[in-house]
Amino acid sequence: MKTVLDVKELKLALKKDIFGVEINILRGVSFSVRERESVAIVGESGSGKTLTAMAVVGLVPDNMSVTKGEVLLCGKDVFKMSRREIREMRGTKAGMIFQEPSSYLNPVFTAGDQIFEAIKDVGLCRDDKKRQCIEILGDVGLPEDVYCRYPHQLSGGQQQRVMIAMALINKPSILIADEPTTALDVTTSFGIIELLKALIAKYGLSLLFITHDISLVAGFADKIAVMYAGRVVEVSDAKMAIEKPAHPYTEKLIACLPERYTSGERIRTIEGNVPDFRNIPSGCAFHPRCPYVMDICRKNEPAITTKEGFSVRCFRYGKDVEYDKCL
Ligand SMILES: Nc1ncnc2c1ncn2[C@@H]1O[C@H](COP(=O)(O)OP(=O)(O)O)[C@@H](O)[C@H]1O
Ligand code: SF4
Ligand SMILES: [Mg+2]
Repeated sequence: MKTVLDVKELKLALKKDIFGVEINILRGVSFSVRERESVAIVGESGSGKTLTAMAVVGLVPDNMSVTKGEVLLCGKDVFKMSRREIREMRGTKAGMIFQEPSSYLNPVFTAGDQIFEAIKDVGLCRDDKKRQCIEILGDVGLPEDVYCRYPHQLSGGQQQRVMIAMALINKPSILIADEPTTALDVTTSFGIIELLKALIAKYGLSLLFITHDISLVAGFADKIAVMYAGRVVEVSDAKMAIEKPAHPYTEKLIACLPERYTSGERIRTIEGNVPDFRNIPSGCAFHPRCPYVMDICRKNEPAITTKEGFSVRCFRYGKDVEYDKCL
């Protein structure tokens, strides 16, 4: 299968401040998504998931710069694209949906107008465009009359479906979904996940699904990339990551899942906090929270070790040291 998205050792830093200090935020993000593959990026808030998703579509915040690495989308390096190519790529190669659909929908235009305006094929006449909009509303499980409704007349779940319709109207190769269900109640979230599964199959889509909740992706992701403090620390076959997590951080995320509790047990959390990017711990950034910490972990950063079905940054699997520390 062809690779649709290949993120290689991506590093992103806050631009130098007046004292010439540069803060590294993404410190080495590598993963790939193949045709028709669903990959989930999982990690606590602040681990760099959204910045990764934004960088993939060429949206690097003005106060940050790419210091290393590349993002190949359908074989083309996003950071070498012209503005016109970037505009063209968004929608036709990669569609995006976000956490709060209401923030991205324009309140003064109807859902139909907004889907219509998202169509990039300039060769289509108005009637054909409108037909496409009605068709895609059906695909995302919305009735035709939603075309004429304003965002405030739609529920959160319906708004997210409109966003999905806008993201897919130009038939992209990959859909990037950044916490698309976080603002929704449990049943509505379930509906959106089921819809995404159906759309992946119908459109032959690749999916990059970003979430802080590893339990959400257990049922549909093929691969999981776990992020910690701006780095991907594990990429595993999804089933394997859930049943037999390799990295101690993944193990902790899984242990906190509600279904792992016995009745009456108190809510479990991972002790300690996600590190501050201005003060990343020495060695392995997870070492202050890791139950398996060894001397080497406090001094050196582990390099990637690849085993069957997973790759991991942890000295429990190999003693190679990462020399490109960017710390
Ligand atoms: N434009 C920005 N300027 C400064 N810091 C930022 C900016 N965007 C994100 N950050 C910081 O980068 C870190 C990672 O952010 P983000 O990618 O949004 O995390 P996640 O999506 O995993 O919660 C956070 O500490 C966040 O505060
Ligand atoms: S390298 Fe050491 S501290 Fe880091 S996760 Fe592995 S065992 Fe824990
Ligand atoms: Mg985020």
